[in-house]
Amino acid sequence: MFLKILPRIRRPTRSYAAVLAARHEGFAKVMQSDLMAFENFLGQDAVKKDDITNHTTDWTGQFKGPGSVVLYPKSTEEVSAILAYCSKNKLAVVPQGGNTGLVGGSIPVHDEVVISMNKINKQFSFDDTMGILKCDSGFILEDLDNKLAKLGYMMPFDLGAKGSCQIGGNIATCAGGIRLIRYGSLHAHLLGLTVVLPDEHGTVLHLGSSIRKDNTTLHTPHLFLGSEGQLGVITSVTMTAVPKPKSVQSAMLGIESFKKCCEVLKLAKSSLTEILSSFELLDDATMECLKTNLGLHPVLNAPTPFSILVETSGSNEDHDMEKMSAFLDECLSKNLIIDGVLAGSSAEATKMWQLRESAPLAVTRDGYVYKHDVSLPLENYYELTNVMKERCGSLAKRIVTYGHLGDGNTHLNITSEKHNEELEKLLYPFLYEWVVDHGGSISAEHGIGQLKLPYSTFGKDPEERLLTKKLKNIFDPNGILNPYKTI
Ligand code: FAD
Ligand code: MLT
Ligand code: ZN
Repeated sequence: MFLKILPRIRRPTRSYAAVLAARHEGFAKVMQSDLMAFENFLGQDAVKKDDITNHTTDWTGQFKGPGSVVLYPKSTEEVSAILAYCSKNKLAVVPQGGNTGLVGGSIPVHDEVVISMNKINKQFSFDDTMGILKCDSGFILEDLDNKLAKLGYMMPFDLGAKGSCQIGGNIATCAGGIRLIRYGSLHAHLLGLTVVLPDEHGTVLHLGSSIRKDNTTLHTPHLFLGSEGQLGVITSVTMTAVPKPKSVQSAMLGIESFKKCCEVLKLAKSSLTEILSSFELLDDATMECLKTNLGLHPVLNAPTPFSILVETSGSNEDHDMEKMSAFLDECLSKNLIIDGVLAGSSAEATKMWQLRESAPLAVTRDGYVYKHDVSLPLENYYELTNVMKERCGSLAKRIVTYGHLGDGNTHLNITSEKHNEELEKLLYPFLYEWVVDHGGSISAEHGIGQLKLPYSTFGKDPEERLLTKKLKNIFDPNGILNPYKTI
């Protein structure tokens, strides 16, 4: 469903990070001798200096770094050689997976060397009794899903960027996505990692194990979940997969108020119970944006203020259909929904999911988008959208909200024709202060990266921040790994 070649939106780049952090003069600059050394231990084809803009520009086109070289190691040993060399020579580096991150974390800020994981994608093994997967970190999520499907399994998470993002990047961002309500976060699935440290030996760590239960020591692999390339470079992942459901049902529901969306969620949880696998929200502005910018039409007959995409996944179609029908009947009899469509074929389900998965692309087509990815208690979830509508007035082109309602995670996207200083001043820090004041988190799933660095302390205990910094110093004593970001 998601295009492998992500459309790139070209527009003038705001040097956001450059304002935040000047180049650290302690770092060396990449010289000809360094390039020769890289070619020596990686081979000529693994060192690229030209045509690297797809590695130095992010998916939104808002982050662009002047990085001058991209390395393509093929193994853990080669990553180790790179990190040992860069550490000894004080060269800063950025690990990069599929480059689909939405906070500028995989883009060099200055002249950092990009370490692309694209070629570390050979080792794959799967225990189809225990459901345990071990694979190189450069595998694309969708490719893993396709491999597992042949064995009757699937990855326990899914996201719109699945055609490009890599499992290593997913671990590094602790990606959430559309199945979290059913299978939990990646914390529930991660068992082990191979990680290379940015020290003078390029130390290789084999963390955790490949068995389901192991309480012999601290759960060290979990330190790297959501570490955003700050602590080490992940080269191999061991995790659980889940049995592929035999019956999947999708329904789109039209709802008149946000309060009723929450009541429908409550009902879905209690009546669909173990088969509920997604509960996603799209507001009317999202539908309008999808139509105007991508020509995608709603599946419901008439526009409604909110649309909910609900999905069930199970093993017995009759049983699942019975539950879904009973749930929809109850929604109607309790007057919770105005309209509803149950997908009658996989083509119809795909059409529903295309609406949800295309929302990130649709908002970028407006020109410039201020993206937000926040968690909030449900009573404040859509209040944030209303508050921002009032605050931005006509300065915003569009205020669009979609998200993982079942997880309390909203994606509020505020668009304008181009980057707008006045609008930006209205948004920040107000928006993030509001989120923290209402018991939320300023980053539910995308991380901090460059985008949210000025606000990374919001809502966090200073002692926790200090602990994070201490950990960073232990793993990366020279500070060469992904500087100017996150921590
Ligand atoms: P990159 O973008 O390459 O890197 C992200 C961060 O991880 C960077 O800091 C980088 O340095 C680090 N990193 C990458 N690989 C490694 C490695 N091997 N070792 C150490 N550090 C590494 N995210 C969600 O959580 N939920 C969603 O539903 C979701 N939907 C999306 C939909 C679209 C259309 C797009 C464009 C993005 C979406 N994202 C979503 C964001 C993004 O896809 C995820 O954050 C994804 O996990 C990033 O993976 P990646 O391989 O592209 O990593
Ligand atoms: C999503 O859920 O679609 C993603 O996290 C991407 C986005 O927020 O645009
Ligand atoms: Zn999301």
